[in-house]
This record gives sequence, structure tokens and C-alpha cells, in this order.
Amino acid sequence: MKPTSAYSSNYERMSGNCTRIIASQMLQNLSPPITSSSYILDNACGPGIVSEQIKLLHPDAKIMVTDWSPAMIEETKERIEKEGWNNMQTGIEDVRDLKGLKDETFSHVFTNLGMPVPGDDESGVKITSALFRVLKVGGVALVSTWADRVWLNAFYNAARAVRSHEEPLKPMALKPELLRASWLAAQLEEGGFGNNVEVRSCVTYTEAGSLDELVENMMLAKQMFFAGYSDEELERVKPIFRGELLKLRTFEQVDGGVRVGMKAWIGVGWKKGDEKEIPV
Ligand SMILES: C[S@@+](CC[C@H](N)C(=O)[O-])C[C@H]1O[C@@H](n2cnc3c(N)ncnc32)[C@H](O)[C@@H]1O
Repeated sequence: MKPTSAYSSNYERMSGNCTRIIASQMLQNLSPPITSSSYILDNACGPGIVSEQIKLLHPDAKIMVTDWSPAMIEETKERIEKEGWNNMQTGIEDVRDLKGLKDETFSHVFTNLGMPVPGDDESGVKITSALFRVLKVGGVALVSTWADRVWLNAFYNAARAVRSHEEPLKPMALKPELLRASWLAAQLEEGGFGNNVEVRSCVTYTEAGSLDELVENMMLAKQMFFAGYSDEELERVKPIFRGELLKLRTFEQVDGGVRVGMKAWIGVGWKKGDEKEIPV
């Protein structure tokens, strides 16, 4: 994917394609494949990034799109209308219980960067159990989590430079064990998938047409990282943040723009119906 100056919303500008690249990799070598009889859940959907990637490949795919945030569902509804996507339903659901959705309903369930739920470190198994419950036997769950979010250092270092007397805000901090492949594998195993799981790595990027644009896009998250800063402090933050982005080990100039690399895990769990067999 090429860096773009035409992201359509604040979410798109802030994420800079990083979730879209993972979504597109989730769909590669999908087993079982999506067919005309598939019924798909795009869970913790944000503005419908996974659905968008599915519709590019399978325009008539039947998809239920859910998120906890009514604002995200509104954005997704607008996108569905604008794109003229058919066979789509939307709903407000907590990914930890999916209580509005019936057992054994879907052939494919996707949760792209919806795990863990921020502030709930115990949410992993709740989520995978809910995914297992709503999947039909023969279906597959795909779940992604972060392994390495290099760009957070640029925010922390900029905050430290401007307010050297206080610890930077860390609203997106996760315990290191939650960034491991083994953590994702364990959540899928314990959620019901047993031995029918696999975890693979995925490189992704946050991208923009220029460094200045990347700074502007990422600074849309300033309320998270620089809450309570005065306008004068925020003015000082910006050039420091720009310099910190340039220092990141995964920062790159590329054809058409700049990008910062990151790493995610894609976990796959198959519901085969043999999960309760006792191994010998
Ligand atoms: C990082 S975004 C990922 C969005 C999207 N899947 C994508 O590929 O870009 C995380 C999403 O999880 C949603 N979310 C947070 N807590 C949730 C919960 N308890 N249940 C359902 N969705 C939740 C947020 O509203 C947000 O849309």
C-alpha cells in the first residue's frame, strides 16, 4: 500500500494504514476460504477496515459489523452507504461477550486489534471464548494483537523533553507479556480452540505522504499523550516529536512518503469440534 494524503477520517489519519495492512494479511491464504455461503463477523470493527478488505475481494460477502462505540458504527454505516456495499448488517456489541449474537452463527470471525480491551488485561480469554461461541463448527477466527509499537517512544521522548519533571502519560501501555505471540496463542487455546491454533507475525506501517503530514496525523492523538499541556507547550512538542520520529529504528523514507514500521501477531483459531477430546 502506498502512503496517502487522502485518509477519510481522523481514525484513518491516526492509524495511517497500519490496521488496513494487517487486515489484508489476515485474508491471505484464508482457510476455509470465503465463499457465497460464508457469514462473517467483523468485530471491534472501527470504521470497518476488515470489511473493506473483504469487500475488495468478495463484493457480495455477507458481513455483520460490530463495535462497542456508537461513533464507530455510525462511521461504518456512512462508509457502507458511500461504497454501496450490500449484505451488511451493523450492531453495537462488547467484544468480551457478543451477547446480542447467537451461538454457532458465523463461518469467519475477525478481531483486528480489538484485543485486549484497553484497561482490561483479563479481556483476552473473554474475547476468544465469545468468538469460539459464535463460530460454527468448521469456522475460523482471526485475531490480531500488537508485538511492537515503536512509535510510542516518539510520544514519550517528546513529553519527557518538554516536561522533564514528570513521567510521560502512557495511555496505550500494555504489560510486556501481552505483546508476545505466546500470549495470543494462550488466549485462543484457553478460549476453547485448544490445539487448533496458529500464530504468525505480520509487519505493518503507519504511513503518510511526507514527514510533516505524518506529524500532523499522529498529533491528532495529542489529547492522549499530552493531556493538560498548554498551547505553548504543545507548540514546543511538535518539532521535538518530529525529530523523535526521525530517530525511530523503523522510520523510513519510501517512494511517495514516509513510514514507521511496526510488528503485529495474527492468531488463527479453528473450531473443529474435536477440542474436548482428551489427548493420549
Ligand atoms: C484499534 S481499533 C481497531 C479497529 C478495526 N478493527 C481496524 O481494523 O482498524 C479498536 C476498536 O475496538 C473498539 N473497542 C474497544 N473496546 C471494545 C469493546 N469492549 N467491545 C467492542 N469493541 C471495542 C474501539 O471502539 C475501536 O473501534
